[in-house]
Amino acid sequence: MSQLLAAAHPPASSRPATDWWREAVIYQVYPRSFADADGDGMGDLPGITSRLPYLRDLGVDAVWLSPFYASPQADAGYDVADYRVVDPMFGTLDDAVVLIGAAHRLGLRILVDLVPNHCSDQHAWFQQALREGPASRIRERFHFRDGKGKHGELPPNDWESVFGGPAWTRTKNPDGTPGQWYLHLFAPQQPDFNWKHLAVRDEFRSILRFWLDLGVDGFRIDVAHGLVKADGLPDLGDHERLKLLGNDAGPCFDQDGVHEIYRDWHTIFAEYDGERIGVAEAWAPTLERTANYVRPDELHQAFNFQYLATAWQAQPLRDVIEGTLRAMRPVGAPATWVLSNHDVTRHATRFANPPGLGTQIREAGDRELGLRRARAATLLMLALPGSAYIYQGEELGLPDVTDLPDEVRQDPAYFRGAGQDGFRDGCRVPIPWSGTRAPYGFNSVEDGPSWLPQPDTWAALSVEAQTGDPDSTLEMYRSALALRRDHPALGGADNLRRLPSPDGVLVFERTTDDGPAFLCTVNVTDAPVTLPTPGRLLMASDRVTAGDTHTVQPADTTAWWTTA
Ligand code: NOJ
Repeated sequence: MSQLLAAAHPPASSRPATDWWREAVIYQVYPRSFADADGDGMGDLPGITSRLPYLRDLGVDAVWLSPFYASPQADAGYDVADYRVVDPMFGTLDDAVVLIGAAHRLGLRILVDLVPNHCSDQHAWFQQALREGPASRIRERFHFRDGKGKHGELPPNDWESVFGGPAWTRTKNPDGTPGQWYLHLFAPQQPDFNWKHLAVRDEFRSILRFWLDLGVDGFRIDVAHGLVKADGLPDLGDHERLKLLGNDAGPCFDQDGVHEIYRDWHTIFAEYDGERIGVAEAWAPTLERTANYVRPDELHQAFNFQYLATAWQAQPLRDVIEGTLRAMRPVGAPATWVLSNHDVTRHATRFANPPGLGTQIREAGDRELGLRRARAATLLMLALPGSAYIYQGEELGLPDVTDLPDEVRQDPAYFRGAGQDGFRDGCRVPIPWSGTRAPYGFNSVEDGPSWLPQPDTWAALSVEAQTGDPDSTLEMYRSALALRRDHPALGGADNLRRLPSPDGVLVFERTTDDGPAFLCTVNVTDAPVTLPTPGRLLMASDRVTAGDTHTVQPADTTAWWTTA
């Protein structure tokens, strides 16, 4: 172990750690696309470290890093070959330690991504299982099964991969003959672990401790709803087939048995100081099922994907906000709002398109409209009680890149889905920092490479171009995050009260016992509305001029007000 590792940094526990996560704003860094220090076209850990002051100044509390572990990159790092090694494309373990330490010194917490549902087919256990053939005990750590049909030529059940095609792949025996099948809910290069096996449980306890010992403040848990499958791996049959947001998750997801694992992990987090947390990526069918992941003895946050999937329409927004707060109340967990991440079309592009197209959209739509709504949606999200996530680049108002040529695409879902789905590359294009042409400061090489091409039109969207421009989306995020920190009523966990409003408009207030109230007005319609002026205007997503008694609020805008 290197000297650096031996001197691993303590967590950010020098600061008071009182439920920091309940209202934290957490920024997702997608390491491939954030900042490229070595100029090879692929973002890396030293690049992230160099840009941490930007994140501190933006005003976020914590940073979640998508996977940077050793991986053949069949699914952009969500196929992990070794959970304790940093992939050379991203740097070294020392670089990770330096990053964690630098973040803590700036007052930022660090969450890393844990991928426990599956590993890479290059993981040592899986390779051993293949090498040793059907009699191998290691196979019990995965879901190996004989096939159906006369010669085992049919998959063991009818499950489908989330990325398209069957969820089973047939292996070859060591002698080259056709062998057993193994389960992969995602790509064939991502075999699912069998979480009923004690060795799997022990291994992940050890992996958690490895990263906790290095000082990370928590984990975003990939496919948190998938670890336990229904006993006997029954056919889906009449169940809606693996529909992530359907009403019935079927036998593959959201099984009750998964919660025992999180109760176990809760005790591990509690062994460490500094309030380390677990965040569930659980596409559970309902908000109530989502709340199960954040019971007091389980994980701390669960992404609100129902909110992410809600169209820019007043009543659905009101329903999902109120439904979320209602669902979280009995378990005492904060709502965890999110509008964008590396798996969905950015909200500036979703809202540029008609509602009902889902979260993977190929069309650019009406960009100006999309950005106006995205800014309004962001101010709405940041005004809600609980924690909020920001996906890198949304603070620049980036749209999805919808016209990537097929030959540069890397999303495995794109290829498995025969081009019908899997447009995740569009939200993963390296972000623009400065300059007038690609790579826009992503690296400092003149005309340097980037693993996905950046559009010619992104100069105006760079951090440099937007800094200091009061109308820019970046400055809107900076102001909003500063106000969110400062306004006393924005701290409460469950202090939202809906106020009467015209059709298509959301008005709510947040109050505190000993300070001014905060009010938020959201015009979700496509026409200006006249509203009673509820207080002093703090900021708005577009031009709002407050009158003494009434204010005309333009289409698709959010305004923040205070009674002080
Ligand atoms: C969810 C991750 O966010 C996504 O990027 C990945 O493809 C799947 N889980 C499988 O790990």
